[in-house]
Amino acid sequence: MNPPFDVAALAAEYATKSPQDVLKLAFAQFGDELWLSFSGAEDVVLVDMAWKLNRQVKVFSLDTGRLHPETYRFIEQVREHYGIPIEILSPDPRLLEPMVREKGLFSFYRDGHGECCGIRKIEPLRRKLSGVKAWATGQRRDQSPGTRSQVAVLEIDGAFSTPERPLYKFNPLANMTSAEVWAYIRMLELPYNSLHERGFISIGCEPCTRPVLPNQHEREGRWWWEEATQKECGLHAGNLIVKA
Ligand code: ADX
Ligand code: SF4
Repeated sequence: MNPPFDVAALAAEYATKSPQDVLKLAFAQFGDELWLSFSGAEDVVLVDMAWKLNRQVKVFSLDTGRLHPETYRFIEQVREHYGIPIEILSPDPRLLEPMVREKGLFSFYRDGHGECCGIRKIEPLRRKLSGVKAWATGQRRDQSPGTRSQVAVLEIDGAFSTPERPLYKFNPLANMTSAEVWAYIRMLELPYNSLHERGFISIGCEPCTRPVLPNQHEREGRWWWEEATQKECGLHAGNLIVKA
């Protein structure tokens, strides 16, 4: 079966299959044209699983310019550990510099994260995905009860597809829990971001991420000054579109 295919039917068929099965499907359909997005956090599990199925796996990270030093080091560690190139995408200075000139480096605390995420994450991602047929993310349903509880293992990207060009989006870890992800990391002794040793669970940009207290949900450590319903930066804006 080659694209286009019936995404809803395949998503239903694969809903209860393992992450590796979902990745096998993705590689079978798209081969080396599949791109993994790696944030430098526990989604190292996705990189590990994919690399074990395909040594040529393609990976990119969005360097917002505001990641923790630990995250930059970890991305480099993963690159060396697996011996894979990781494509690093940077914001367009023609957009970034005027924003910072006008509003400073911390405007998101005053007027929300939308503009800064738009320039530092979404525009570079849009640029990247414009030449891509399919991508895979480390999104999981348990990461955000407000926005990710319905994430499917396979979907048509609701944010970056165009009418002429459907973009296929795989979320192989969708059904894994945080506990399962960490059992995998520890059992297989994968490298991990050292911020996790300091109470961080979900990790994004440094100014917009903080550790959580015991029993606080991991998402509460992200953009904590904003409402829970808005806690998507736009990479996965399709999650905010109400699905019929
Ligand atoms: S976010 O939208 O809130 O920032 P989150 O940190 O939960 O996302 O990560 C979910 C998935 O989004 C990651 O597993 C990864 O696939 C993708 N992602 C998030 N941030 C980045 C990044 N900086 N670079 C590449 N992919 C990312
Ligand atoms: Fe900017 Fe914060 Fe969004 Fe990073 S998470 S791009 S620093 S608003």
